Amino acid sequence: MENIEVLFNEKVINKKVKELASELYDIYGDNEVVFICTLKGAVFFACDLLKNYKGDARMEFLRVSSYKGMESTGKIELNLSISEENIKNKNVVIIEDIVDTGNTLSFLCDYINKMNPKSLITCTLLDKKIKRVVDIDPTYTGFVIDDLFVIGYGLDYDEKYRNLPYIGVLRKTKKDL
Ligand code: IMP
Ligand code: MG
Repeated sequence: MENIEVLFNEKVINKKVKELASELYDIYGDNEVVFICTLKGAVFFACDLLKNYKGDARMEFLRVSSYKGMESTGKIELNLSISEENIKNKNVVIIEDIVDTGNTLSFLCDYINKMNPKSLITCTLLDKKIKRVVDIDPTYTGFVIDDLFVIGYGLDYDEKYRNLPYIGVLRKTKKDL
């Protein structure tokens, strides 16, 4: 049996997303920005962030995978790419659901930087700072969390739980260990 404990409810998430959207708008004003949503985990966050963003926003999608079960494999695979013309000379914001070891974010930044954006920053909803292996810090972070396995609001455990409207901690009961 799995046991889910609410960590951030919908209200808390919405408030944070609105704050981040307004901080981002403060940087770019009415300049065009390309927001890259990393699939699948960041999809709810990216949609809510963009709905609250008042400026000139474009939306692109990247798909990478690294996680199997509750552990990061460290090997990043790119499953969906972006064409260079959508990045070159543009202000780019990479949107992530969660940064853990930092391998994925570092891979994504390298991939985008090769396309020569005008500027590049990163925005993650969650940061498990304590688990960092690669020396990388997101430019904007919603919440720093402890070393917990979280699910919901896009985040999954083997593709399950993405549809929860809140972010919860998944705890396995002794029977499943
Ligand atoms: P990193 O490459 O180790 O930083 O891992 C980042 C990716 O692993 C995230 O984009 C998530 O897809 C996934 N991930 C890391 N921690 C969690 C978690 O607690 N729950 C669900 N997915 C996670
Ligand atoms: Mg992800």
